[in-house]
Amino acid sequence: MSKALDGSPESTDRGRSKTRWESWIAEAATAREAAGLTRRLRPRGPGDDTIDLAGNDYLGLSRHPDVRRAAADAALLWGGGAGASRLVTGTLRLHQELEHELADWLGQPTALTFSTGYHANLSVVGALADRSAHVVSDAHIHASLIDAVRLSRAQLTVVPHNDVAAVRAALAARPGVRTLVLAESIYSVLGDEAPLTELAAACAEHGALLVVDEAHGVGVHGPGLVHRRGLAGRPDVLVTATLSKSLGSQGGAVLGPGAVLDHLVNTARPFIFDTGLAPASTAAALAAARVARSGPDLADTIRARVTALARALGVAAPAGAVLSVPMPSPEAAVAAQADLLAEGVRVGCFRPPSVPDGVSRLRVTAGAGVTEEAWERACKAIDTIVGEVR
Ligand SMILES: Cc1ncc(COP(=O)(O)O)c(C=O)c1O
Repeated sequence: MSKALDGSPESTDRGRSKTRWESWIAEAATAREAAGLTRRLRPRGPGDDTIDLAGNDYLGLSRHPDVRRAAADAALLWGGGAGASRLVTGTLRLHQELEHELADWLGQPTALTFSTGYHANLSVVGALADRSAHVVSDAHIHASLIDAVRLSRAQLTVVPHNDVAAVRAALAARPGVRTLVLAESIYSVLGDEAPLTELAAACAEHGALLVVDEAHGVGVHGPGLVHRRGLAGRPDVLVTATLSKSLGSQGGAVLGPGAVLDHLVNTARPFIFDTGLAPASTAAALAAARVARSGPDLADTIRARVTALARALGVAAPAGAVLSVPMPSPEAAVAAQADLLAEGVRVGCFRPPSVPDGVSRLRVTAGAGVTEEAWERACKAIDTIVGEVR
């Protein structure tokens, strides 16, 4: 019997000794278990009635009627997939429509979509940096950007989190070297905001390009923080985004000058060697962007909820929709998560290696997609269960 990925029945290789690979995998699993770091997939059904404060569907748009209808219509019209990579026959007029909508909303000259936000980040860094380039990266940057830098083989300087002086020093240390500075507008684990204005000024002084991942900014802050800080449309500021969080769909995007995006179309391997974004996902993101643009009240709901819950738990209010609650250990975080699930509330859990500073945390999304009644019930449960542990 083979072992299922959700951790159900143990496989038994009766009468046969383990291969070297099987032993290696088993040892890694034992070490993970001993450290309290085992992760398991937990499939949910369509009628799941737990209150979901674990996901990234910040505005609740994945289930919005316009979004569902757009996805269904697009699948019926275009089919299940784009059918090819973008440079072959996989560029649909629907992609172009979404790219225009996103560029217009975020105040950027052009946009290019990708099959995931992960691919968008791999593409930007891979296409713009090589061994002769220098990347200055915040210590809390997302895994997709870390992997992107590794693949690019660029010279890397990791600077302490949100430390503009360290960024300036790193830029000054290699004058004349083509440099990218990587930041997230809102950091996914700590939930704080990057000093974008100061970073952009440092980049401009040193001729560097600032790449801002707006995965947690777009939607939660309308057109995102690059736009809100007056930096959209600058030739030295590039934005990456995901369609899978506030836009309730799947996919990613890069926004910025047309010449840069042309460069990506011609050189970014995760764009060139990848099938175009599926029609249903494209149409869903397009419909969601239109809903988000026309309904700023969803973002207001997030702000009110996250601020109130942060106050109740005695933690700092984050800049985005996600509240990060430090826990004494990975085990305590997992136990609190299970207790909350028993109360009908799903929250997320950050444990090493997903936390740059090694501190395990509960991750509570103050999304606009749950009803006021459900939100209040969930807050009560969180207050009680987390209050007992911390
Ligand atoms: C900051 C950040 N960047 C990029 C991504 C990747 O986006 P996607 O899920 O669309 O691949 C994520 C998703 O977790 C993220 O949090």
